[in-house]
Amino acid sequence: MRSGVNHYKVVFLGEAGSGKSSIVVRFARDEFFAFQEPTIGAAFLTQTVSLDNGIVKMEIWDTAGQERYRSLAPMYYRGAKVAFIVYDVTNKDSLDKAKGWIEEVRIRGESDVIIVLFGNKMDLNDSRRVDKTEGQALADKYDLLFSEVSAKTGENITDMMIKTSVELLKLKPDAPLNADSIRFTNDGLSHKNNKCC
Ligand code: GTP
Ligand code: MG
Repeated sequence: MRSGVNHYKVVFLGEAGSGKSSIVVRFARDEFFAFQEPTIGAAFLTQTVSLDNGIVKMEIWDTAGQERYRSLAPMYYRGAKVAFIVYDVTNKDSLDKAKGWIEEVRIRGESDVIIVLFGNKMDLNDSRRVDKTEGQALADKYDLLFSEVSAKTGENITDMMIKTSVELLKLKPDAPLNADSIRFTNDGLSHKNNKCC
């Protein structure tokens, strides 16, 4: 049983317009904007989930999907314990993009990162281009948590955040900072002392 608040860095990744910010805003503020502005760089929000066996505080980095911000992404997924990867069920290309993100986070992210795949905009069933089974197949292939969701109606978002928090509490907590393990080095000094070169 863990007491206190457990903090975790989490990141949202996915195609521009897939609804990352809308999902974050629905989760953190319970709001939805039909004209959500494209994210510039990244946005930061927090939300806390209280469970019987611990409190999870998600420190959420909502990244910008536009290609011009692509090079910033590693800064946000590095150290993240959860990567929420979002595609849009009305946009087939966004599923391919999601696959790319899954592979990148698996290779370059934390070794124990929890990856959650969201097929967003499930309310737009009439313009659907990606079947639920395709999202499920991708999730099964990489052993991910998966759900179709709607930031607009809120469907499945709370449930998935609770499931994710349950998984987070199973992770080994980060080691507390140990003063003995901190070393200061000064390259300039050591060069002088060693009479290097
Ligand atoms: P970038 O910040 O550019 O990467 O985009 P994003 O992934 O954050 O997408 P954003 O949340 O800005 O949503 C893009 C558009 O889709 C906005 O107009 C939203 O209102 C709309 N949208 C987001 N989620 C949903 C949803 O679940 N259903 C519907 N119908 N529209 C949605
Ligand atoms: Mg955004």
